Amino acid sequence: MASASFRLDGKVAVVTGSGSGLGRTFALGLADAGATVVVTELPGLLGRAEVVVGEIAAQMDRQAAIALPLDVTSLASIHELVRTTVERLGQMDVLVNNAGIQIAKPALDVTEEDWDRVLGVDLKGVFFCAQAVGRHMVERRQGKIINVASIMGLIGYRERAPYCSAKAGVVNLTRELAIEWAPYGVNVNAIAPTFIRTPLTEPTLSRPEMYDDIMYRMPIKRLGLPEDLVGGVIYLASPASDLVTGHTLVIDGGWTAM
Ligand SMILES: NC(=O)c1ccc[n+]([C@@H]2O[C@H](COP(=O)([O-])OP(=O)(O)OC[C@H]3O[C@@H](n4cnc5c(N)ncnc54)[C@H](O)[C@@H]3O)[C@@H](O)[C@H]2O)c1
Repeated sequence: MASASFRLDGKVAVVTGSGSGLGRTFALGLADAGATVVVTELPGLLGRAEVVVGEIAAQMDRQAAIALPLDVTSLASIHELVRTTVERLGQMDVLVNNAGIQIAKPALDVTEEDWDRVLGVDLKGVFFCAQAVGRHMVERRQGKIINVASIMGLIGYRERAPYCSAKAGVVNLTRELAIEWAPYGVNVNAIAPTFIRTPLTEPTLSRPEMYDDIMYRMPIKRLGLPEDLVGGVIYLASPASDLVTGHTLVIDGGWTAM
């Protein structure tokens, strides 16, 4: 074969927190690449996931997505998601560990509750979703896990102490899981995006001094768009990346090259 395959036909992809922002775009992209996508969202916000399922249905001529509730901070919720997905779709081939939150404040003001909330979603949630889905993948001897880290897992940025800590944890957790599960045909990689305009980053980007600082640090003088990340996610989900594991793909307009 002269070219690698980026297609995901016949694959089932679970995307956590995909009722908005980047997760929504990943769900649309994975469906476009051929996957059947499980669009998950917090139970109280499930309507958002149903909207995304509707968007996918409008673009495809097949039943390409379902919506299911998931709170990544609850092991019971994670296990219910895995059980229902396997019951309804038979398998899980791809997990995009996307759900994340951020609390931006100076380190001296961070409370124990702030720390636990951010680490609970952004690191503990990533691990236990990977563990639950990874168990199924290890049994089937195949799977692709893509953790959504951040450039803030590789470099520091002010007012982000819990977030930088969690994302750095995700980068190294990615390496650890890659080593453990490589013998079972399960690849574990991450992406590390720069600032992308989503509901998560809007409060930061709407502050002119923050926007100017971000532009100063971006050799490519524009913000990222959710669509800028989709190719990387599809690559890491597809057979084209079969030899890639434990890697963090930086998609940052050159920020960390400076
Ligand atoms: N937007 C950026 O600039 C940027 C940059 C680097 C990394 N990231 C990462 O990308 C991911 C998506 O961020 P986004 O910008 O789309 O943010 P977003 O706020 O638009 O989306 C986050 C999603 O996660 C969901 N979520 C929150 N807590 C959850 C929980 N406990 N269980 C399940 N779902 C939960 C939210 O409901 C939402 O749908 C996050 O992990 C974020 O850290 C974002």
